[in-house]
Amino acid sequence: MSASSQTPPGRSRHLGALRGLAPFLAPYRTTIAAALIALLAAGATTLGMPVAVRHVIDAGFGAGATQGFEQQFMVLFALATGVALFSSLRFYLVSWIGERVVADLRSAVFRHVLGLSPSFFEVTRSGELLSRLTTDTTLIQSVVGSSVSIALRSALTLVGALIMLAVTSPKLTGLIVLGVPLVIAPIVLFGRRVRRLSRTSQDRVADTSALAGEVLNAMPLVQAFTLEERQRERFASAVEDAFRSARRRIRARAALTAWAIVTIFGGLIGVLWLGTADVAAGRMSGGELGQFLLYAVFVGGSTAGLSEIWGALQQAAGATERLTELLAARPDRAPPPRPRPLPARPAGHLRFERVGFHYPSRPETAALSEFDLDIRGGETVALVGPSGAGKSTVLQLALDFYQPQRGRILFDGIDIAEVLPQDVRRHIAIVPQETVLFADSVAENIRYGRPGASDAEVRAAARAAAADSFIEALPEGYATVLGERGMRLSGGQRQRLAIARAMLKQPAILLLDEATSALDAESERLVEQALAELMRDRTTLIIAHRLATVRRADRIVVLDQGGIVASGSHDELLAAGGLYARLAALQFRSEPVTQA
Ligand SMILES: Nc1ncnc2c1ncn2[C@@H]1O[C@H](COP(=O)(O)OP(=O)(O)OP(=O)(O)O)[C@@H](O)[C@H]1O
Ligand SMILES: [Mg+2]
Repeated sequence: MSASSQTPPGRSRHLGALRGLAPFLAPYRTTIAAALIALLAAGATTLGMPVAVRHVIDAGFGAGATQGFEQQFMVLFALATGVALFSSLRFYLVSWIGERVVADLRSAVFRHVLGLSPSFFEVTRSGELLSRLTTDTTLIQSVVGSSVSIALRSALTLVGALIMLAVTSPKLTGLIVLGVPLVIAPIVLFGRRVRRLSRTSQDRVADTSALAGEVLNAMPLVQAFTLEERQRERFASAVEDAFRSARRRIRARAALTAWAIVTIFGGLIGVLWLGTADVAAGRMSGGELGQFLLYAVFVGGSTAGLSEIWGALQQAAGATERLTELLAARPDRAPPPRPRPLPARPAGHLRFERVGFHYPSRPETAALSEFDLDIRGGETVALVGPSGAGKSTVLQLALDFYQPQRGRILFDGIDIAEVLPQDVRRHIAIVPQETVLFADSVAENIRYGRPGASDAEVRAAARAAAADSFIEALPEGYATVLGERGMRLSGGQRQRLAIARAMLKQPAILLLDEATSALDAESERLVEQALAELMRDRTTLIIAHRLATVRRADRIVVLDQGGIVASGSHDELLAAGGLYARLAALQFRSEPVTQA
């Protein structure tokens, strides 16, 4: 990116965009070399054919008619076979390179994107990323896997044919050389416009994918609110936008094609006219005119080919530019240069030291300020407070999803900024507010907690999370494949799978964000027992609205507007009055059962 922005605008910048592909082509140098050799061989045999044709014509119609006549045909046929052989070899090698490079590119982009920070996914729509991975890479595939070789072949034929023309008839060649810029100039000038239009057109396609992804993910909501018609219209209008962009692009290319054909045929007809006059005047043989015409057709054909390819190259340059941008996106924080290791069996001591934090997308509002909290290894701390107080944010920071702007977070005394995020997360399990399930079997969904866990361990975790009985009741038990996002499970069932996942991980630190909010009283009692088991000897940070859950914590921390307003045991906080007492009073009124 930086390399291309230093070069002057225009044509060189376009080339700069395609340069982003170089690292992906580099591993296949030998295949590329072989393809080039096949290309050269095909070009040479193609250029040899008109000479053979001249001999055939002159031998057939000339003075000494039959002498060496069949032989000339054999030569012509041998050349044609050569063209076929080398062309198909070139096609195979070049297509192979195209497919290979795009496969590598897709993997590289996906691998890279998975390493980006949560804030990247906040501002980038997943549908747009999908479009980059599919349509943009397909465009590049068409270029690497065919256009480039057609361009090279055309350029080669153009130059070769021009030289052969010059040898055959310098006068007529001069005429053609004068005509070539007339064909090429508008193509180059127009090309830039095509590239811009191509980029816009690809952006619009990405928009439609993003929109479709969004709506399809929210189908139950769309149907519940009967928003189908509205979403259909939104999508139709996005599709129309994409079509309009594409139409502008193909219009430009259509105009280019018309121009190319008119100028090329005009030139050919002019040459034929002058050449026929020369043959009539005896200045040239019929065979020479035939040879010349064939070369002129080659020149015309390759020029037309180049103009077509120019458009495709511009389009691919647009796509490459966008993928390079994506590959250039960096995580918010580079991993520490010399990361410190965490103990193999950490005690789970978690300390927030005067942490101040605002989300990148909301720089003006602090989500946490002067947040000071020291959690001993094995301690259970409950976070309570009104919605939006910053409870979930504390968990996100503990997971190193975001980095605080002020203060530090220490894990067993080590600043997590100096540890690889993956290392921190290896020792933490979270049961999030929203359970995410994968389109995979129940057993595999639990196994995400610790890949490599045995079936027995998976079952034990499920039993501990009070999930065993409902799983056994599923059509195929643990092998039941869950729909996209686990649509076929109830909220409480999903939550129990999430708890089982966390149990399987056996982490040093457990983060529970409303882990039991979706459960009915009976499963909650079961899960509470399981959680009590899980929380024992393990640092636990638990967010709960139900005071029944909260009361069991060693310590309760009351959060309001990003700051700690009080902390202590349930009884201490009740006695002190304040926010906790008010929250408790509200709950006890609405949930009289828990009062006992
Ligand atoms: N990704 C985000 N980007 C910007 N602001 C955010 C983001 N996530 C949360 N916030 C804001 O930060 C504040 C704290 O949010 P947080 O999710 O921590 O609240 P919470 O205490 O967990 O609330 P709840 O009980 O409703 O889950 C809120 O004002 C919220 O709007
Ligand atoms: Mg929350």
